[in-house]
Formats: sequence, C-alpha cells, structure tokens
Amino acid sequence: MSIHDRDGIRIALIGCGEHSAENLIPSLAGLNIVDVRTVYDPDPAAAANAARRFRDCDVDPTASAALARNDIDAVVLAATPQVHYELSLEALARGLHVFVEKPPTVTRQQLERLVRAAGERNLVTCVGHNLRHTTAAHQMRCVIEDNATSSSFGKPTAIEMRYHASKPLGDRWGLNSPLRSFLLSHANHAIDFMIYQLGPISRVNAALASGGKGGIALAAQFVFESAAVGTLLATSLAPHFAISSSIVSDQAKIVKLESLSEVVAFGIGQDPKRWGRQWISKTLLTGFAEAGYSVEIEQFTLAALAGDPRACHPSFVDEIAVYDALDAIERLLVGDSARGMVEARG
Ligand SMILES: NC(=O)c1ccc[n+]([C@@H]2O[C@H](COP(=O)([O-])OP(=O)(O)OC[C@H]3O[C@@H](n4cnc5c(N)ncnc54)[C@H](O)[C@@H]3O)[C@@H](O)[C@H]2O)c1
Repeated sequence: MSIHDRDGIRIALIGCGEHSAENLIPSLAGLNIVDVRTVYDPDPAAAANAARRFRDCDVDPTASAALARNDIDAVVLAATPQVHYELSLEALARGLHVFVEKPPTVTRQQLERLVRAAGERNLVTCVGHNLRHTTAAHQMRCVIEDNATSSSFGKPTAIEMRYHASKPLGDRWGLNSPLRSFLLSHANHAIDFMIYQLGPISRVNAALASGGKGGIALAAQFVFESAAVGTLLATSLAPHFAISSSIVSDQAKIVKLESLSEVVAFGIGQDPKRWGRQWISKTLLTGFAEAGYSVEIEQFTLAALAGDPRACHPSFVDEIAVYDALDAIERLLVGDSARGMVEARG
C-alpha cells in the first residue's frame, strides 16, 4: 500500500538522547497518525528506553539498518549536525521523508546538497525549529497578519528579539569553533523565528562579546527584504532559557511576546492609546503542542502523507536563509573582524 493510501506514517527514530527523550518521543507517542517502527542509538540503553515508549518497536543494530527497512516512510533524526547530514543524505537516497533537529548540517554547502537530493525525489523535509510552531509564535503572527479589521496591524517595520540560553559553553560537536557552535545551537533558532515573522533577511551586521567559561553574547542587526529592520541579542550566559520579542508596525502598533506564555498587542481595537489585547497561555496547559514539538512533527507527517513538500516548514529549502544569515555573521566576526562595523569614534 502506498503512503498516500494510509492514514498513518511509519517512522524510524535515530538519536535517542536528551532532546528525544524529553520532547520528541512524547510528541511522537502522542500522535495517532505516527507509528514508530524502529529506533537506533549507539548507546544501547538510550535506544532500549526509547523503544519501550512505542508499541511493537524494534531496536536496529545500526542507523543504516534502520534506514534500509522496507516498513518505514520517514526518519526523525536527533543527534549531531554531522550525523544529521550523513543520515539525511542516506535517507533521501532511499526515498524517505526527513525530519531533522536543528542544525541539519555544519555548512551551507552540505545543506544545498540535501536540498538537491530532496528536490530530485519530491520528498518532504523539515528542520526542528520548534519556536516558530509554538502557540505564542502563532498568536504573534496572527496579530501581524490581521489586515481584515479597521485596526489592522499594518506593515511590520522593526523586530527585536532577546534569546538567552545557558549553553553551549565553548566548543560543541567537535567544530573547533565556539562561535560556530553557538550559531548552530541557538542563533539559528532565533533567526528562524525572526524570518518566520518578518520574511527573508538581506543584510547583516554583528558584534560579539565573550563571557565566563566560554559563553557568548552576540548582538546582530538585520535588514529584511521587506526593508524592515531587526536586532537580535543572543547569549549562552543565562541561568536558564528565556526569550522575548516585539514587532513594531508602520501604523503605530506593537505586538510583544514574553517568554512563550504571553503575547500583548498595543494600538489594536478601540481606544488604542489606553488599551491593548492580551493572549496568555491557559493555566496548567504547558505541553508539547504549546512548545511546538508535536505541532512540527504533525505538520511534517501530514505533508508526507499528502506527498506535498510545500506543506511543511521550515524545509531544507527554507533553512538556506538561516545559514545565509549565520554565515554572514561569521564572516563579520572571524578574521577581518571589524569589517562590517562602523567606527563609533570620529
Ligand atoms: N529544538 C530544540 O528545542 C532542541 C533542544 C535540544 C536539542 N536539540 C537538538 O537535538 C539534537 C540532539 O541534542 P541532545 O540534546 O539530545 O544531545 P544528546 O547528546 O543528549 O543526544 C544525542 C544522541 O545522539 C546519539 N548519537 C551519536 N552519534 C550517533 C549516530 N551516529 N547515529 C545515531 N545517533 C547518534 C548519541 O548517542 C545521543 O544519544 C541536537 O542537534 C540539538 O541541537 C534541539
């Protein structure tokens, strides 16, 4: 039976570490259109723990053995960027749809290769930028897209984002670059969120400070293709993960996101100088859907069942825009470091 004639998708889960155990496995287990047939992790205990969460789920001896099975339609990968790239290529060559945690690759060149491989076979791809799939991010987007009412938001003109994480400190994934490690761990999440809200970025500027124990503080400025401007402050120096963002329009409206639990719009509705509109997440409802994890996997699954790569975002094609911004930041900060900055002293 072809995948399009079924009402569920058969998945191999590869990489059963912390993120899988905490977020992906509960999300996969909670979707009745998902059937996880097999798992693989080089750590046998991690693989066995993962397999126990699914009914009739095998543990394969290697990743290639999992991908070579004839009873799977798609793969979910959560390991390292090097593993993501190699196994995505192998999976796409076998005609499997691919969901991969961020970062999908180390370099843009590798990502382009994945884009070509997926395009040749019309396969669905998705990068796990869960932030854009959170309920709060959707609420924020609804405000800026609401052009139907007399108090419509207008054209987004500026965005700011603060993204505070507690790791990585120093090098990760053997990249031999704390900056690249940070960009591929966190800046990519924040930039995908900003692109989701305002569209592609055309110009970049950036500055960097180093903190204790290898932490990083990145201040970046963006000009979007829409001519809007943006700033990002991203750090790995926080005690715990926290984000906030705001978007300002050309019609004197503002929408603010605080953590992932509150969105407030100002300048909307009656008496806009005094009143705003607030969305807050329901008390006791902080689950895998609100955090975007089950939403991104469900979107991927439905797109794969429909055989429609355009129904799933961010795809590998979408992710190119993120790598372009990351690479521009890196070019500004490494080597000829002050190239993009303007002298403050005259
Ligand atoms: N979207 C998010 O919110 C979010 C949060 C945390 C981590 N992540 C991403 O998820 C991925 C995994 O992160 P983590 O925190 O779970 O790391 P982790 O180190 O806890 O888990 C990685 C797992 O991959 C396994 N692995 C190593 N080599 C492998 C191979 N060749 N084949 C298969 N599995 C292999 C390891 O044994 C380990 O179990 C990373 O890419 C990370 O950036 C995303």
